[in-house]
Amino acid sequence: MKIFGIETSCDETAAAVVEDGFEILSNEIASQVEIHARYGGIVPEVASRQHILAIIPIIQQALDKANTGWQELDGIAVTNGPGLAGSLLVGVSVAKAIATGQGLSMIGVNHLEAHIYANWLGKNEPEFPLLCLIVSGGHSDLVLMRGHGDYTVLGRTRDDAAGEAFDKAARILGLGYPGGPAIDREAAKGNPCIDLPRSWLKGTNDFSFSGVKTALFRLVETDKINNTADAAASFQEAVIDVLVTKTIAAAKQHRTKQILLSGGVAANRRLRQRLSDESPVPVLIPQPMLCTDNAAMVAACGYFRLQAGKTDGMDMDVIAGLKLV
Ligand code: KG4
Ligand code: ZN
Repeated sequence: MKIFGIETSCDETAAAVVEDGFEILSNEIASQVEIHARYGGIVPEVASRQHILAIIPIIQQALDKANTGWQELDGIAVTNGPGLAGSLLVGVSVAKAIATGQGLSMIGVNHLEAHIYANWLGKNEPEFPLLCLIVSGGHSDLVLMRGHGDYTVLGRTRDDAAGEAFDKAARILGLGYPGGPAIDREAAKGNPCIDLPRSWLKGTNDFSFSGVKTALFRLVETDKINNTADAAASFQEAVIDVLVTKTIAAAKQHRTKQILLSGGVAANRRLRQRLSDESPVPVLIPQPMLCTDNAAMVAACGYFRLQAGKTDGMDMDVIAGLKLV
């Protein structure tokens, strides 16, 4: 079964074809990073306009790379939230037009669920019950998954998401945008020797990253940082210490068989290494380019939803604040 995926929730216009929920036939991305870099962050209005320019060419590219025509496809999956409303609308409108014109089933996909399903790509065999740590620009969620589509949110961030914290720390350190990859690179050249606070929020599965960011800001403001690489490494370590420790504790508490890591921050090399090294249960992590926003993960998720008979009608709306459950 072949599913076409469309992703436009934020600043990447992406289209993909995935077979049977795991085999990537094409996975095309038109990135807007350079356009937003000059503003130091994503400008929603600019993002929507760029999606309009990029969506049709990227869809054609995904079909061509997969050597597939619409008649060979079984459904079209599209992210309908959470994300920027104007950006989401571009993908959803195009998906509706194609589904109507080509007589295809349409499946609205939650962007966070799609991040989780990136772990099914490449024929991994996740085993339930499992614990997912979703760390992206907008979310840091710990989710217990007992089966396909069966989610219990155990904890989430109370303030900044992990990716947001990385982006802000990079800005504080003058490392530019996008911040996560910049901190990752800079940290590799330094040592985590600067003492920064960790917010444990004991007795909960929640996270908080605004304190460590403010502590870094105070050190920079008072000229106490003389080595940017050490500062980046120390910040990264503080965030990762909390993510890894709390994820492993939740996996033990709920006796999960595996831990799945997903979302843009899952591309971070230190996080990948520490979670894999320290977890008592197997850890699955998608390859870095499948951690950040892409449409293959949307198609993979759409496959499992279609298998469960869950399709959407033309009244499907975009929901900027869509929740996992
Ligand atoms: O999942 P994603 O591509 O978009 C959202 O759904 O938000 O995640 C983007 C986030 C950004 O905050 C970016 O800085 C972060 O993921 N990120 C990283 C790395 N690559 C991307 N954070 C830390 N290390 C990385 N290597
Ligand atoms: Zn994302």
